Amino acid sequence: MLEKIKKIKNKAIEEINKAKSAEELEVLRINYLGKKSEFNQILKGLKDLSDEEKKLVGPLANESKTEIQTALENKMGELEDLIDMEKEWIDVTAPGKRIKKGHYHPLSIVQRDIEDIFTSMGFEIADGPEVESEFYNFDAVNVPEDHPGRDMQDTFWISKDEDREKGTGTVLRTQTSSVQVRYMQNHKPPYRIIIPGRVFRQEATDASHEHTFHQFEALVVGKKVSVANFLYIAETFFSQFFGKKLNVRLRPSYFPFVEPGFEFDISCTNCEGKGCSSCKQTGWLEVGGAGMVHQNVFEAAGYERGKYQGFAWGFGLERLAMMKYKIDDIRHFHGGDVRFTKQF
Ligand code: FA5
Repeated sequence: MLEKIKKIKNKAIEEINKAKSAEELEVLRINYLGKKSEFNQILKGLKDLSDEEKKLVGPLANESKTEIQTALENKMGELEDLIDMEKEWIDVTAPGKRIKKGHYHPLSIVQRDIEDIFTSMGFEIADGPEVESEFYNFDAVNVPEDHPGRDMQDTFWISKDEDREKGTGTVLRTQTSSVQVRYMQNHKPPYRIIIPGRVFRQEATDASHEHTFHQFEALVVGKKVSVANFLYIAETFFSQFFGKKLNVRLRPSYFPFVEPGFEFDISCTNCEGKGCSSCKQTGWLEVGGAGMVHQNVFEAAGYERGKYQGFAWGFGLERLAMMKYKIDDIRHFHGGDVRFTKQF
């Protein structure tokens, strides 16, 4: 009997140590310690043994049962540790998941490029409000009430009482020229600045017109600033921006805040002046407006008339981006179609 108990115990412990899962362990527990197990039958039969035999078999049977239970518990602990380790295991050789990164909108890219070129030429970047007073958008830059110049840019009015005092209405600015006098009032010449910003005009949209678009204004003021300075800076800027030598051409034009005023063109970025479909065979592309700052503008800023000279120019950021990236419709920029923006 004693031998039999030892054999059962040893076999049970051997099998328990080899078990690979909690399910296997449960089967072993039932087989070795369950009600119908051989071991249980022995324990039940103890009462039929002689006192002598009971003294020997009883303690051995109880010890063996405890040993089997301990072996079961230890093995269960081991298996649970293994399961935890499997859960926490990381395959460091697995290929990583590509993280989707955001990127700049094409207009931001172009704006940053332009700012880099101008700041490298010593320009500072100035800013002004998009919701602007009628005064800074129109009156201060020499566009008096009832002047035909005011009709050149259809305006979104925020407030406009018919019997208001001069210049006290509020508009969504129609041009970055609105920042000119704001800046002049707080700075003493000489200075050279650029003013990038969003502007608004109440007009029907088409492939080259938006109601909300961006302009870039440049303003250089000093005692001896000339059209020649403008030409040099414009040619340097456009050649750097497009990465090739380009020429600038001036055509007489009218803007109330400059005298003389010009429209300016650059040699076609596609054919470099030879003539192609992009420039309608002219060899030139229209870019923006420019001119020598009108003395009335200096006066509105509180400067002494005739003391300073300066040039100003303004062009559309979207139009420039369209030339650079050969984009055929301005409405793509704010259309929200990621197939467009993803290309940059
Ligand atoms: C002006 O806004 C003047 N303030 C520019 C200026 C500044 C002239 C300083 C002289 C001195 P204009 O309305 O032409 O000018 O607009 C300038 C540029 O903005 C245009 O050449 C064009 O590139 C862009 N632009 C004008 N209207 C739109 C529009 N609806 N959609 C997209 N771009 C436009």
